[in-house]
Amino acid sequence: MIPVILSGGSGTRLWPLSRSQHPKQFLPLVSHNTMLQETVLRLHGLDNMKAPIGVCNEDHRFMMAEQLREIGANPSAIILEPVGKNTAPAVALAALSAESADEVLLILPADHVIANVQAFQAAVDKANHLAQQGHLVTFGIVPTAAETGYGYIKAGDSHSEGSFQVAAFVEKPDQATAQSYVDSGDFYWNSGMFAFTAGRYLQELEKFQPAMLSACKEALAGAQQDIDFVRLDAEAFGRCPADSIDYAVMEKTDQAVVIPLAADWNDVGSWSALWDVTRKDEHGNAISGDVLTLDTEDSFLHSGSKLIASVGVSNLIVVDTDDAVMIASKDRVQDVKKIVDQLKELN
Ligand code: GDD
Ligand code: MG
Repeated sequence: MIPVILSGGSGTRLWPLSRSQHPKQFLPLVSHNTMLQETVLRLHGLDNMKAPIGVCNEDHRFMMAEQLREIGANPSAIILEPVGKNTAPAVALAALSAESADEVLLILPADHVIANVQAFQAAVDKANHLAQQGHLVTFGIVPTAAETGYGYIKAGDSHSEGSFQVAAFVEKPDQATAQSYVDSGDFYWNSGMFAFTAGRYLQELEKFQPAMLSACKEALAGAQQDIDFVRLDAEAFGRCPADSIDYAVMEKTDQAVVIPLAADWNDVGSWSALWDVTRKDEHGNAISGDVLTLDTEDSFLHSGSKLIASVGVSNLIVVDTDDAVMIASKDRVQDVKKIVDQLKELN
């Protein structure tokens, strides 16, 4: 299997720690390793894992190369996107770079936490077999809330290796639809990780997104390659339609199967999700840096340079960095993105 590390996101909901020049996948958010490094380290011990392919924005090339080097990972390629075109083209670039159409690609977002590595690795082993049979394999998480930021997978008939046929794949449904899916008990969340052969993915892309496929082929044909990086032909990639793998392929294909994954997965998409996965004191506070608390509960307090002192508050997020302090109610963390949008307009 070839791990394909998708590392092009901007992680705006974790502002002000996550910045466009230094997004969350390159930060040590949950351990002393960065999220990117954890993604690669989590594969150690699996059989038949080949050198990873990284796909990221040009601006992040040195962080990507350096962080992989630090953990002794030697990528077969780091593909640099001049602009982000979302995940469907990023995966296409990796598939087109694989040596053979039969290679199984394991698509991994670089910004997830998976506490139970053993369960994850067992699922990856199963996925490898299913992918070799020509399936597009998804990993399904039992939903705990009607989140609208996820894809939903309806499990159909049972299939080999404990997997199920995918009866329906719905990316980011509205709130009412998400609630009905959770209530029905028939749906999983899409984890955002996938396994398939390079050839199978490219066939599906040819069927559903021919313009995307040809733009990716041209971007690679005109690419400059040096020892470390593959620099795409910017003009050709600029013509590529932007879309996520979820909308572009997974909603449309009839070749998908789902492997249930119970591995304490968390995509750390917000400050409250980060609070969830961080070790807390006896009052439920996740604290880092110079922090003093009095009668403070269930809060996330991160001090970068200044002392943070909190008195009589609960469910608060306070993040202090060199040039910004963010204070948010824990149940409003999805709206941090709106602040970032406002900042973009001001700049
Ligand atoms: N190279 C590259 N280029 N990577 C990208 C790009 C891009 O243009 N856009 C996003 N990525 C990376 C992100 O860094 C992240 O690691 C991964 O691809 C997924 O992108 P997100 O933008 O985080 O997707 P999402 O969270 O909205 O939705 C996906 O993940 C959910 C689970 O976390 C979907 O697959 C959902 O169905 C799924 O539930
Ligand atoms: Mg995500």
